[in-house]
Amino acid sequence: MKTYVIGGYVRDLQLKRPSKDIDIVTIGSGIDLANEVAKSLNPRPKVSIFKNFGTAMLKYKDLEVEFVGARKESYQRNSRKPIVENGTLEDDQNRRDFTINALALSLNKSNFGELLDPFNGIDDLENKIIRTPLDPDITFSDDPLRIMRAIRFATQLNFGIEEETLKAIARNKERIKIISAERVIDELNKIMMSQKPSKGFKLLEETGILQIIFPELQKMKGVERVKGIGHKDNFYHTLEVLDRIVPNTDNLWLRWSALLHDIAKPLTKKYIEGQGWTFHAHNFVGVKMIPKIFRRMKLPLNEKMKYVQKMVQLHMRPIVLSEDIVTDSAVRRLLFEAGDDIDDLMTLCEADITSKNADKVKRYMKNFKVVRQKLKEIEEKDAVRNFQPPVDGELIMKIFDLTPCREVGIIKDAIKDAILDGEIHNNYDEAFAFMMKKAEELGLERKV
Ligand code: CTP
Repeated sequence: MKTYVIGGYVRDLQLKRPSKDIDIVTIGSGIDLANEVAKSLNPRPKVSIFKNFGTAMLKYKDLEVEFVGARKESYQRNSRKPIVENGTLEDDQNRRDFTINALALSLNKSNFGELLDPFNGIDDLENKIIRTPLDPDITFSDDPLRIMRAIRFATQLNFGIEEETLKAIARNKERIKIISAERVIDELNKIMMSQKPSKGFKLLEETGILQIIFPELQKMKGVERVKGIGHKDNFYHTLEVLDRIVPNTDNLWLRWSALLHDIAKPLTKKYIEGQGWTFHAHNFVGVKMIPKIFRRMKLPLNEKMKYVQKMVQLHMRPIVLSEDIVTDSAVRRLLFEAGDDIDDLMTLCEADITSKNADKVKRYMKNFKVVRQKLKEIEEKDAVRNFQPPVDGELIMKIFDLTPCREVGIIKDAIKDAILDGEIHNNYDEAFAFMMKKAEELGLERKV
């Protein structure tokens, strides 16, 4: 059977990027070929067959190999589901998204290893260009997910998008609406995990895609002026923060926190005489916006979202702290609220300092060092991270023979505050004595 390696694996081979997914195309049945290949391998792998798609897959060592018969596809306007017929290798290459993804390597004896490159994909790889093999309006309209893929590849590989291809993305932007949110977010997360995510977001913005898939972020672009006084452009500032956090974390959710930390600035923006531009409580409003954004974009609504909300809520705290005299009690409170995520919060905060003023940046960084040092000291001394007050509500109710009521809450909070403010140490005896004192003030009597 005439057989070729095609697509991403050939591209990555040329780029010397490691890849474990091999796509094999054959002129004939992909399923038959997969069964024959499996027979000749030791140990013999199981073949998974996807009858509806006419494809088959096997895993061998750390490779995942997919087999498919060469096909010709034609699309209808309102669906990503093409009408599929058997075709030649050329038909198969024609239906692919980009010239760099249409490369094929022959696996046949007569011309083993020969590169079949009808669209000069190799040149585009060398010149770092994303370009569609056919008329880009057809390629993108056939499968609008390719709009996201073009921008994702440009970002991941640091390639440019060829002019006509880029124009076609903008012309066909409305077609992105037929793509499921799950597919879109998959691509967006790949952009987030690249070395320079700002590149992808700028392309999304320039082509009009951002307005459709992420209007809240689009809204951050632009500068308003009152009496000649402007504020910084929050879109570009956010992208700078995102790029700056990349070398310091591979945690997708910390990167999302960077992207969303100022998301409520457009909503809370206000010019106040004598104060200039203010963004009052933008962190709290941001926290409230996040569930809606996550739900729409099909991001997880679980502890990962809660983590992003926490980061957004607390993102100004270390800065405020470092501007002031760094007191033990302020550090203790921050540690208590951030818990185990304190290091991530510091990482976010450091990335957030994008001032052009070198002296200012230096001063902030120095202050942050002080804060980090203080955090370490306090943590070693008081262990407030994840701390549970040593005297809890149960005990308070038992000692004073109470059912759950307002007084229990008052005493509990007072103990917590006393520990965080350093009035008492974080231990049972001191907390117990403090409880007795507080109870007396409230007129409560010890019952056991
Ligand atoms: N392809 C396409 N249009 C799509 C998706 C895929 O034409 N919307 C083709 C491309 O030729 C691509 C191949 O199918 O190279 C395999 O797709 P996929 O495995 O999704 O991507 P890769 O190119 O391998 O890259 P990555 O693994 O980074 O997603």
